[in-house]
Amino acid sequence: MAKFIVPKEIFHGVGSLENLKGLKGTKAVIVIGGNSVKKNGVLEKTQNFLSEAKIESVVFGGVEADPSIDTVLKGAEFFQQEQPDIVIGLGGCSAIDAAKAMWIYYEYPDSKLEELAAPFAVKPLRNKAIFVAVPSTSGTGTEITGLSVITDTKKGTKYPIVSHELTPDVAIVDGELCASMPAHVTANTGLDALSHGVEAYVSNISDCYNDALAKDSIDLVFKNLPTAVEEPNNTEVRQAMHDASCMAGMAFTNVWLGIVHSLSHQLGGTFGIPHGCANAILMPNVIRFNSKVTDKYNNLAALFGKSTAEDFAQEVEKLRQSVGVVNSIKEYGIDEKLWLEKLDTLTENAMKDPCTLFNPRKPEFEEIKAIYKACFEGTKIDC
Ligand SMILES: NC(=O)c1ccc[n+]([C@@H]2O[C@H](COP(=O)([O-])OP(=O)(O)OC[C@H]3O[C@@H](n4cnc5c(N)ncnc54)[C@H](O)[C@@H]3O)[C@@H](O)[C@H]2O)c1
Ligand SMILES: [Zn+2]
Repeated sequence: MAKFIVPKEIFHGVGSLENLKGLKGTKAVIVIGGNSVKKNGVLEKTQNFLSEAKIESVVFGGVEADPSIDTVLKGAEFFQQEQPDIVIGLGGCSAIDAAKAMWIYYEYPDSKLEELAAPFAVKPLRNKAIFVAVPSTSGTGTEITGLSVITDTKKGTKYPIVSHELTPDVAIVDGELCASMPAHVTANTGLDALSHGVEAYVSNISDCYNDALAKDSIDLVFKNLPTAVEEPNNTEVRQAMHDASCMAGMAFTNVWLGIVHSLSHQLGGTFGIPHGCANAILMPNVIRFNSKVTDKYNNLAALFGKSTAEDFAQEVEKLRQSVGVVNSIKEYGIDEKLWLEKLDTLTENAMKDPCTLFNPRKPEFEEIKAIYKACFEGTKIDC
């Protein structure tokens, strides 16, 4: 038996932002990151649509990339002053994840981040407000997921808050919002979406619902990511990437991820390698590693008229190269001496990462270390 959870309403397509006009409520707080939604006019459009729905709106701005608990607490204080009945996360995943965490603190002011990070610790939400997610990057799928990632900058730790309570009520997936995304953000976030599709597809709790979404999301990324990088204003292609990210999000929020993410979380936390870039470096060798216990990658190779896991791993490498992402951790610029000093700790933490539980092949310490070593050098593993 299995359960499939997604937002109650998902509006998608170019121009779907206008569905904000159908929201019911009196006051919205819109949480944004930097200035991109101001510069590209999306914030103004959002506020105009809300006005048409007779919903007053106020803005909480300045959420940083990898949002901190300090920002979340400031935002929650703002929510207490403004008393919204709608929370809107608008922008990259950082802004939306921060808005999700502010929403928890708004409803439960005595919350503690460490406690929220325990599995399914979030209490029932929606006593004060509903949540609307409007992403402007095509990668994490946060508009769909029951997940918010918050950083405690003092401890240097990233806390994933995992609960289906955090699944937004309304998701708006409008590719037009992504046109202003810089090429490197498009490439990294698009490869993140690819990794969600691939890891969900081979998850050890995968099922036919999520397989269908994951497989089609993978196909969409391969067909559209290079053009999205080259032609930023091509809205059709932007929409296809936004749909891919959303579909991969639907799959992974239900069947979770694997060791690409376990290993990548450590590379992000320790060396600041962008999430999608780290995933793309790791993915081909993780495919080779997992292919010893699953033949599902053969179905993904078939998308290219090929037949083996190795064929699919090589297609991922070609895509990575074509969008200008480096081939190895060394090439990203990590110092070899520092790398060797950290390698055992990275490996231990990757073993403990919750995503490891859903990987199709249970890895040993030395196996994870071998994958890390090969990905540092940019060579193929054989284990
Ligand atoms: N909630 C989830 O399901 C989930 C899953 C995976 C990762 N994460 C977290 O997501 C965060 C990363 O999110 P992200 O990859 O969306 O990046 P981001 O939100 O950090 O944005 C990256 C940069 O791009 C800018 N930007 C965003 N949209 C833009 C646009 N349309 N035009 C111009 N600039 C734009 C932002 O201002 C920022 O500078 C990390 O904190 C990661 O841990 C969350
Ligand atoms: Zn990811």
